[in-house]
Amino acid sequence: MILQVGDVVGYGPDPKLCIAALRERGAQVCLGNHDAAVLGRISLDLFNPFARYAVEWTRRQLSGEDLAWLRAIPLFQVLFEQDITIVHGSLHEPAEFDYVRSLSSARLSMESQETKACFVGHTHQPCLFTMEGGTEFQYRPEFESQASYQLDKGQQALVNVGSVGQPRDEDPRTGYLLYDTETLVFQLIRLEYPIGEVQTKIRSAGLPEVLADRLTYGL
Ligand SMILES: [Fe+2]
Repeated sequence: MILQVGDVVGYGPDPKLCIAALRERGAQVCLGNHDAAVLGRISLDLFNPFARYAVEWTRRQLSGEDLAWLRAIPLFQVLFEQDITIVHGSLHEPAEFDYVRSLSSARLSMESQETKACFVGHTHQPCLFTMEGGTEFQYRPEFESQASYQLDKGQQALVNVGSVGQPRDEDPRTGYLLYDTETLVFQLIRLEYPIGEVQTKIRSAGLPEVLADRLTYGL
């Protein structure tokens, strides 16, 4: 099962292909702030000039069908059978697209989390927080150093899965996460990809240079 935690479009040079790839694979998706901006649901004043330019460029690339698909994406999804929630930023007021970057912001999100696991994106940096008994919250740095984590039966997890298209943890490789719902193991996967080809596409599209450059460094 493929889950996508938002910002399907908004920075990269292939927004139509990203939408098509997720549609073809029947991915479960939740809405990101860049998706919302492309739809005109949030103000572009909240974006830096480069991101704003990319959002306006993206709007011009998408067909009516692409936009209809984006419009149908919910702010979050609870997948009861898999005991998983997906949301872009935080489960605490999902429409605000808050960043989970600290134990206190993780705690706010987890207080609204009813499932075993909740997957988020938005910061583009993998990390993991756990909750036990609804009261004990912990940041788990070993998840980042070991690229995996075995969840205990009594724990719930809030996991940032990193970013496929624009990693920002100083590792430029594309990133995603595998989760085994039976063994409760999370595994971060990083793969090399032809960064230069994407950068050429970004420059050819006339998108801001910084969006190409940052891919070299994973920033
Ligand atoms: Fe985002």
